[in-house]
Amino acid sequence: MPFSILKKQELVPTIHLMEIDAPRVARKAQPGQFVILRIDETGERIPLTIADFSRERGTITTIFMVVGKTTTHLSTLKTGDKIQDFIGPLGNPAHFEPGETVLFVGGGVGIAPVYPQAKAFGKAGCKVISIIGARSAGLLFWEEEMRSVSDELHVTTDDGTKGHHGFVTDVLKEILASGTKIDRVVAIGPPVMMRSVAGATRPFNVKTIVSLNSIMVDGTGMCGACRVLVGNETKFACVDGPEFDAHLVDFTLLMGRLAMYQSEEKQAGERYRCGREGCPC
Ligand SMILES: Cc1cc2nc3c(=O)[nH]c(=O)nc-3n(C[C@H](O)[C@H](O)[C@H](O)COP(=O)(O)OP(=O)(O)OC[C@H]3O[C@@H](n4cnc5c(N)ncnc54)[C@H](O)[C@@H]3O)c2cc1C
Ligand code: FES
Repeated sequence: MPFSILKKQELVPTIHLMEIDAPRVARKAQPGQFVILRIDETGERIPLTIADFSRERGTITTIFMVVGKTTTHLSTLKTGDKIQDFIGPLGNPAHFEPGETVLFVGGGVGIAPVYPQAKAFGKAGCKVISIIGARSAGLLFWEEEMRSVSDELHVTTDDGTKGHHGFVTDVLKEILASGTKIDRVVAIGPPVMMRSVAGATRPFNVKTIVSLNSIMVDGTGMCGACRVLVGNETKFACVDGPEFDAHLVDFTLLMGRLAMYQSEEKQAGERYRCGREGCPC
């Protein structure tokens, strides 16, 4: 049964919001979980984190960055279009203890998955401090949404066009060094950012959680594609995660496996952009 796109919007260049009519997924969705979608019968399955949901309206919101063939194709769809498959919710919900002070770090498109967690943790009585960052002011989205669910919000840009000039980890280190009591750090963004966050919190011995974006195929623990190493144990990010203790994750293996199919991905992207029947490219 195809799923209708109720809203489609480019938030900032290359980052799009898509709201899908999916009542059965919305009924069970929880912060931290993800969906796997397939645009059409010949399409690739891609995982996207649930950025927001409404049980009343039966909707799931995802936010995706255009990086290759499938996300480029997805970005061309419009409000009213349909996608073939939309499976979820998958993975484990985010865990927290009510009353904790939680510091969220969202980098780039990683701001989207941080939002529903900050919203839920705050509602459950946690103090929420958030740091969001992007390369430049023009690539920053959902600042007001994040402000509305945070007790304290810090903004950083790599080029200094908004907020702190530098990385999210600069502000994180300042907060940790100031002696502010932080019970848990949750970081979602590019693997290199999550690795830096793990490095910054380790000396302070603060529990740190990251959401791993390893390559996924079935999303149900059957194919092994999403294999990651956590505390020297093999885990499947789709069923054991996607959230893990950042201090135990082997980020080098994660990044190596993410780059495993780069030449095939490049070819698929070129073929999609060309689009001419019979073209050998
Ligand atoms: C649990 C999870 C949640 C995610 N949530 C989001 C999100 O909310 N927003 C967002 O923009 N991106 C998210 N991603 C990443 C997203 O799935 C990839 O960007 C997307 O699959 C790229 O597909 P493509 O064809 O456009 O690009 P390709 O050119 O095929 O790939 C570009 C890069 O994306 C990664 N990738 C490719 N295929 C997959 C796959 N099947 N599974 C995972 N990664 C893949 C690889 O690192 C690859 O090098 C998530 C990934 C995971 C595992
Ligand atoms: S995606 Fe297949 S085992 Fe996780």
